[in-house]
Amino acid sequence: MFKSRQKNTTWLQKWFILGLILLNSAMLISCENKATIDAFQMNKKLGKAVNILGYDGAFWKNLESGRFQKKHFKIIKEGGFETVRVNLHPYSFMDSSYILKDSWLKNLDWIVENALAADLNVILDLHEYNAMADDPVGKKELFLSVWRQLAPRYKSAPENVLFELLNEPNRLLTIDLWNQYLLEALVTVRETNPNRFVIIGPGNWNGYESLPTLKLPENDNRIIATFHFYHPMEFTHQGAPWSSQTKDITGIKWEGALADQKFIEDKFIEVSNWSKNNKRPLFLGEFGAYDKGDIDSRVHYTSFVARTAEKYGFSWAYWQFDSDFIVYDIENDQWNEPIHKALIGN
Ligand code: BGC
Repeated sequence: MFKSRQKNTTWLQKWFILGLILLNSAMLISCENKATIDAFQMNKKLGKAVNILGYDGAFWKNLESGRFQKKHFKIIKEGGFETVRVNLHPYSFMDSSYILKDSWLKNLDWIVENALAADLNVILDLHEYNAMADDPVGKKELFLSVWRQLAPRYKSAPENVLFELLNEPNRLLTIDLWNQYLLEALVTVRETNPNRFVIIGPGNWNGYESLPTLKLPENDNRIIATFHFYHPMEFTHQGAPWSSQTKDITGIKWEGALADQKFIEDKFIEVSNWSKNNKRPLFLGEFGAYDKGDIDSRVHYTSFVARTAEKYGFSWAYWQFDSDFIVYDIENDQWNEPIHKALIGN
């Protein structure tokens, strides 16, 4: 009796151990699954993106009073976009110990959940570039604290939630300083998110010409490199009040003359060579032409940049959904048709 009970227990134990082994391998497989798509495949998946929520101050205070609403995720998806790049300005929502307000984090959860539910990929883009450029040393702790909090919060999010460490590092946040900061932020992210895809661009405003200055850890292949493209500035930023060198310029056209196309394509070839030589996929995180240019020129330009990016295998994000450069007219609840068509086609 005793013996046979012992035998039963042994069998039970064996089944238990077998169960554990199976569970363990299932978990291992699912962990591996997380890393089965590489950065190039992820970048392809990002495809066509749009920048959202950058200037929607009201939203961040109370999501019900924002211009951006839940329905816009579906509109964006049905409008042919695959990804949203969410422009985050969290610094004014942190207390003196650099802790992010719960209400701000809950709004961010709302964005991530609803974007994923609409089958969109999500890029969390830290857009505090002005604060960082004014006082990089004084703001360093804020910068790292954001990632210390966002990384663990989204560590179990699906792999199509990506982190972009900082938009357009510039001025006092020099190229060298940025190369140090990005590494520290990446180490912070990797503590909780070993497989998360992270987007990183070079100093000097994420300019295409600065990509060769970008220092990325060679053994980390879960990185997508990014650059921004607004050339020629006299065309894309004519009449833009924040752009000191072009704010008083008007009447510049972009009609797709061969020389104008070549000017852009040559730069994209340069960037594409960088991508091949450095084995990093490229995401064109911002481009567009400000509303003051004539609409035909803006359409030609926007369409040419998007198609050329696609030709060289870059994913892209248009600047921006609403506020300025708009592709969607929130007040009238309709696409800005010419720009939308230029980006997505019919
Ligand atoms: C900035 C915007 C600006 C845009 C084009 C973005 O990175 O956040 O303020 O309008 O670039 O200049």
